[in-house]
Amino acid sequence: MSEPQPRTVVVLAAGEGKRMKSSLPKVLHPLLGRTLVGHVLNAADPLEAARTLVVVGHGADQVRAHLAEIAPEAIAVHQAEQLGTGHAVRIALEAAPEVTGTVVVLNGDVPLLRPETVVELVATHEGEGAAATVLAAEVPDPTGLGRIVRDAAGRLEQIVEQRDATPTQLAVREINAGIYAFDAARLRDVLGKLSTDNDQGEEYLTDVFKMLVSAGEPVGVHLAADHTETLGCNDRVELAALRRLLRDRVNERWMRAGVSLLDPETTWIDVTVALDRDAVVDQNTQLRGGSVVGSGAVVGPDVTLIDTVVGPGATVLRSHAVGAEVGSGASVGPYAYLRPDARLAERSKVGTFVEVKNSEVGAGAKVPHLSYVGDATIGARANIGAATIFVNYDGVNKHRTVVGEAAFVGCDTSLIAPVEVGAGAYVAAGSAISKDVPPGALGVSRAEQRSLEGWVTRKRPGSASAEAAERALRGAQGAPVGPSSASQGEAIHGTAESVGGAAGAGDTATE
Ligand code: UD1
Ligand code: CA
Repeated sequence: MSEPQPRTVVVLAAGEGKRMKSSLPKVLHPLLGRTLVGHVLNAADPLEAARTLVVVGHGADQVRAHLAEIAPEAIAVHQAEQLGTGHAVRIALEAAPEVTGTVVVLNGDVPLLRPETVVELVATHEGEGAAATVLAAEVPDPTGLGRIVRDAAGRLEQIVEQRDATPTQLAVREINAGIYAFDAARLRDVLGKLSTDNDQGEEYLTDVFKMLVSAGEPVGVHLAADHTETLGCNDRVELAALRRLLRDRVNERWMRAGVSLLDPETTWIDVTVALDRDAVVDQNTQLRGGSVVGSGAVVGPDVTLIDTVVGPGATVLRSHAVGAEVGSGASVGPYAYLRPDARLAERSKVGTFVEVKNSEVGAGAKVPHLSYVGDATIGARANIGAATIFVNYDGVNKHRTVVGEAAFVGCDTSLIAPVEVGAGAYVAAGSAISKDVPPGALGVSRAEQRSLEGWVTRKRPGSASAEAAERALRGAQGAPVGPSSASQGEAIHGTAESVGGAAGAGDTATE
């Protein structure tokens, strides 16, 4: 009886989804890492179907383009007018006259369906040699859904839409999930005879059951163990409810796999993300796309990772990362922004209000505060002082900056690319560096400081600053006062080199 059958998957995705009130076709709305139709195709994956037909209509071009990306082997069949689910399946099979065996029909807007459930439905169907088998579920609230109507012996008699149902039928809580397995030949026989004699004037796929029953063909019902799998999505309120359900399902799976989620209700993990044992995800965190979090890494609170790989033992705190790599034991944030191809080697640090793009930060190197690092290679153990800007863009082209191993860049420096700071070199704080600094040299580039003595007293007489200055100057003439006047004097009269050394080392070594 259950000989292996060639299998064809038909996904119904031509509907407009009016109640979504969206310029995006309903089936393209995203849900934790895949579109609605992406989830549905994924659920059918284990069937290893010989053919996958997707019925498209509303937003057909957008849906086709998406299919080309996620399921290039799928064939789009165009349904110009949405004349009903039966019509949709009919034109799909007309487009593929060679199809025999089992035809699995999936609604494009039922995204929580599990692959296991589809496999079980097909096993039941093929095992019983049925002409048609419907996936059903017992739901708390069947409003709006097709009801499974059984005869006195409990056999499926027909599927009745809400709007065509009698009061007795409306009381039934066993509903049609819109997921079916059919025998291709027997489905074809009846599809041509569908009427539009119903409240919507459409060809209902569900009428196939009534017709097969009256022809004496065996039909079956496969009951889903978890009714939430069969929930459809008709508006954005339902989409949000589905998102919460899927979040809980994904989170539970990771917690059971040894990942700590400190606040599962505010942790949103795409189905495409991977986490290792003993990873910790703190609250208000979104892990999206192809992101990976290694063992013992701590991510969150308040972190968004998109296609970002975080190595074992790393920490990412209150930050946003897209297409980045964070090496093992590295530290990011709070308030860092990692952009595509930011690659942070092991034990490196990208700290507060630091943006990194298309750059390597070497092992143990630090960019602790207030910096922009674009198109740069920073060597191992280099230290980039606060407010350093890698000036990478000349208005037309981007250029690279190379900072050598264990180099030391003083605060508030502009590194004007293309430029190289050699290994072990120092750059004086406040410099604008546009020429290479040789290894071990101190690069200094800034105007010499002048102090115009008495300027405040002359130009701002009577101000708080003038009064404070006068007090300080009186104190300086008499008994020595606070430590500030001594160090100020030194800075004012120091050489460029001593200023560079003092300011650079003093400011950037602070952590
Ligand atoms: C359908 C079922 C209903 C079931 C429910 C489950 C029918 C008549 N009713 O109702 O019994 O409980 O699904 O969610 O089948 N589509 C097309 N072309 C069309 C019409 C629809 O591709 O001409 C697609 C839609 O885009 C959607 C799917 O088929 O993905 C279901 O259509 P929809 O109009 O949402 O059917 P429901 O009224 O929800
Ligand atoms: Ca629907």
